[in-house]
Parts: sequence; C-alpha cells; structure tokens
Amino acid sequence: MNTKINDYVTWVGKTDWELKKFHGDEFTTEHGSSYNAYLIRDEKTVLIDTVWLPYDREFVSNLKKEIDLKKIDYIIVQHGEVDHSGALMELMDEIPNTPIYCTANGVKYIKGQYHEDWNFNIVKTGDKLNIGKHTLTFIEAPMLHWPDTMFTYMDNEGILFSNDGFGQHLASEFLYADEVEQDKLWKEAITYYANILAPFSMMVKNKINEILKMNLEINMIYPSHGLIWRKNPEQIVKKYLEWADNYKENQVTIIYDTMWNSTRKMAEAIASGIENIDKNVTIKLMNTSKDDKTLVLTEVFKSKAIVVGSPTVNNGYLHSIAGILEMIKGMKLKNKKAVAFGSYGWSGEATKLITEELRKAGFEIINDGVKVMWTPDEEMLEQCKKLGEEIGRTCA
Ligand code: FEO
Repeated sequence: MNTKINDYVTWVGKTDWELKKFHGDEFTTEHGSSYNAYLIRDEKTVLIDTVWLPYDREFVSNLKKEIDLKKIDYIIVQHGEVDHSGALMELMDEIPNTPIYCTANGVKYIKGQYHEDWNFNIVKTGDKLNIGKHTLTFIEAPMLHWPDTMFTYMDNEGILFSNDGFGQHLASEFLYADEVEQDKLWKEAITYYANILAPFSMMVKNKINEILKMNLEINMIYPSHGLIWRKNPEQIVKKYLEWADNYKENQVTIIYDTMWNSTRKMAEAIASGIENIDKNVTIKLMNTSKDDKTLVLTEVFKSKAIVVGSPTVNNGYLHSIAGILEMIKGMKLKNKKAVAFGSYGWSGEATKLITEELRKAGFEIINDGVKVMWTPDEEMLEQCKKLGEEIGRTCA
C-alpha cells in the first residue's frame, strides 16, 4: 500500500512478506524484504526505482492509484538489478518516452536485461536535476554493490536515497527503522552487509568518506530494502564504517560437517580448548548441513578466527563445506585467522585441502590443523583441545 512520507515523497514500493530466498538460493531472507520505490511530487514528478519483477503489474496498478502515469516526468533507476528494475517493462509499456536517469553502466545493464532502447539520460557524480523547490544530486556508488549503482540526494529535505546501501532484508508493517524491534533490525542490517556488501568494503569506506566530504545535510536515508533511517541516520553510517574496516568481534566460529559424529566431537573439543584460554570469547559451532548458510557467513564476518572441519570423503571434503568455503572466498575478508580439522578413515586429505582453500580465501593460517583417524579417543580429543588452546592464544 502506498504511504505518504512527507509533502513531497510517497513510498510506492512492495513489501514482500513471502520472500525466503534471495539472489537465487544465495541469501536466506528469514523475515522477507521490501523493494522500496519512491514517488517525488514537486513541480516535476519523479519516480525513484521500481520493484521486483513478479510484482510488476501490482506496482504499476498501485502507482496509477497515486498518479496519472503520464504525469511522471523522470524515472531514476539507481541500480539495474531486477529487484529494483523489474517493473520497468510494465511501466514503460505505458509511458515509453519518459526519460530514465541512470549511470552509464546502468544503461548497459538495463539494455542487457530488457533489450529496449528507452530514453536514457546518463548521469555522473555531481550532476543535478532541478525538479522545482528541490534539486536532486546524483552520486555514483560503483560496487555498492554493482558497477551501475548510484545514490540520489534530495536537498532541502536532506534525503539520501541509497538504493542497496544501508538496507536490510526485513519486511515490516512499519516504514521507519526506529519503529521496529532494534535487535532484529541490526541483526538484519549486519546480515545484509556481510552477505552482500562485505566483498566491497574498501569501496564502501571510500564512498562514505567521499559523501561526508560533500558536506550534504543528510537528515534521512531511504534505502531500497527494508526500513528508512529517519532518526540519527549517522548510526547506520557509523556502523558501515566499522563493518567496512576489517570488522571483527571477540568471536571464533567453528564450522563443520560430519558423517558419523567424529568431526563433530573434534569441533566440540576444539571449542573447549579455546574456552580454556579465553573465557570471554564468543564461540559458535555451526554445522553447515544444518545451519543456514546466510547466518554462517554473518558469523564468519563477525569472527576474528574461523575453524573449518570436514571428514575426508572420496579424497575431498563434504559438499556443504565446499559450498561454504566458496562463499567465504567470495567475501574477500581480511585480517582474520583460520585453521582446519577433520576425521578420516584411510586417505585423510580434507584437512590439507581445506587449509589451502582458507589460504586462498585470504585467511592467515594458524597451523596445519588436526586430523584424526576414525573415531577420536581421549588422546585424540586432547590433541583437538590443544589446537583450541593454540587458537585461543594466537587470537588473544
Ligand atoms: Fe537490491 Fe542489488 O539489488
């Protein structure tokens, strides 16, 4: 349902309560999401972004309740990914000549997906669009998180439309971040950062610093997913600067999969070894065949060290570990430590192979790890505890 935010801006997006998977199967959205689109009515009328493709007709139909589509003067496409541009085809069928403002990469990506040569107007950082009492300023934000991404700043109101930046996958009956349960909000905000923006942390940091130097008065941040930062938008900006700066908490995450519980027993013994050294460290054990991968990646993002274990199977490791290692590699994390472990029956390659993958993923390897033949006995579990103690000392 459309919601009037102030005298000029109306939310015309879609709250997707049903969304449980995003980016295919890559991101689990436990609490749904929203695709926020905004209609600005000044002397000129501007639409910022649309919604995901399955909701294209619903979006256009709702927009018609708000305004005669022919009165839309400009469409701003801040990012071509289908969750924001998905309703363009349906919309442009009705108003095919309306100018679309986007970055040069935006033109390429929109054409690449929709194969239409609409009335594109390419904008760069600092370009302005006067719409009456307000002027919109465009700010390119490449790799936050696609090369085409841009933000839009609306003066006088001090609104930064930030597209994927500062968003959360969180469906809510509320519009503003200060209206919802704060633990849930921040959990979703860091999960979103860890799973979408972490690989681009350097660009995030540079872009925020660039915007801060522009001395724009930012009173509110309107992302394209989740809740609007109406009060103290600097709180999420500050968090982004922390998360973008080799973020780590006093946490070690032990990630494993197991066939007959030997590797699980090793994981638990390693955990007790870490605890022997540091009673204050948060230790999380996560089984990759049971725990959700989006949550696993978030815990990896928060950790100062990770410990990864799998039994050896067919000269390799279990597929859930292979999958999570590939995802961890994509996060391009820095300044974190890691070590591997696992049980085996005869060949025993998994620990070495996992170590190699962790090294390739940019982790500082603590040591060669521990591997145990068959079921660990007390002596072998003691070896695992010793590994845990070494992790505790190395990461203190
Ligand atoms: Fe929310 Fe990159 O799309």
